[in-house]
Amino acid sequence: MATTDASITAAKPARRTDWLGRAATFCYLTIAAGQLLFVAFILLYYYARTLTGNFAGWNDKPIITGYVAGDTAGNSFFAVHVLMAAVITFGGLVQLVPAIRSRWPALHRWNGRLYLLSALTLALGGLWMTWGRGSWLALAGAFGITLDALLIVGFAALAWQAARHRQFVDHRRWAIRLFAVASAVWFMRVGYMAWGMATGGAGIGKALDGPFDIFLAFANSLIPLAIAELYLRASAHGTPAARKGVAALLVVCGLIILAGSGGAWMMMWGPYI
Ligand code: HEM
Repeated sequence: MATTDASITAAKPARRTDWLGRAATFCYLTIAAGQLLFVAFILLYYYARTLTGNFAGWNDKPIITGYVAGDTAGNSFFAVHVLMAAVITFGGLVQLVPAIRSRWPALHRWNGRLYLLSALTLALGGLWMTWGRGSWLALAGAFGITLDALLIVGFAALAWQAARHRQFVDHRRWAIRLFAVASAVWFMRVGYMAWGMATGGAGIGKALDGPFDIFLAFANSLIPLAIAELYLRASAHGTPAARKGVAALLVVCGLIILAGSGGAWMMMWGPYI
């Protein structure tokens, strides 16, 4: 996966000075703000308990299957999962910054390897926790997260392969798609909060089995993926109208993300740290 500064820079996106570029930067900054809150929660809640051996403390907040006395395999998978969750969430944000890619290509390469490793660990370990350990509430949720895991593994392989073959334009496209689906569990939390604040929780079932739960189980990966695809196409060869349309969509998404992330901090994460 050896590269040069010039080859990585060649994969940089279209101009950042037009509306589409500015909207993409705005949307990225809102995602970064929301994901940094998620990282802060993971560090202050899960790292604090896991690294001090207080595994039973995972259950201080409502989760499906956290610490179970005597279940060494399940508890170990859970520990690795929450430790890697902060690595992938922070690492993904770093990978997408163009200035880091062009100024510190070695950092981009090493962080990229760590990102791929954490993506595989979370996806494969998550699949085992879902189907092996039985950590699921509603079947739609279990199938939705399974689809997400398969997309993560597939896109990680394609991003890695394109980088190995020095196809940096393709590598950037697969990496952006990977970021979209690897952020699905975070989008799900933000989506629940934004929807809850807007509708008072319409369609959310007690066992997360209502119409909105079923929708979000798949939408949490497929909608970010579709929006990433629209952005990639508009920035590569979109008409001026298409570029403006996608720019407007990214601004709306950014505003929803800001609201949902604020809500997630106040309701889901902040109260437990
Ligand atoms: C790739 C990014 C991922 C991140 C950042 C992530 C993060 C997390 C976090 C923070 C938790 C702790 C639960 C909480 O406090 O809400 C968790 C639990 C869990 N995750 Fe993931 N996860 C990811 C991917 C996956 C995937 C792909 C799967 C399944 C295929 C999965 C399955 C699970 C399961 C089953 C639990 C236990 C849920 C519970 O007992 O409530 N995760 N994950």
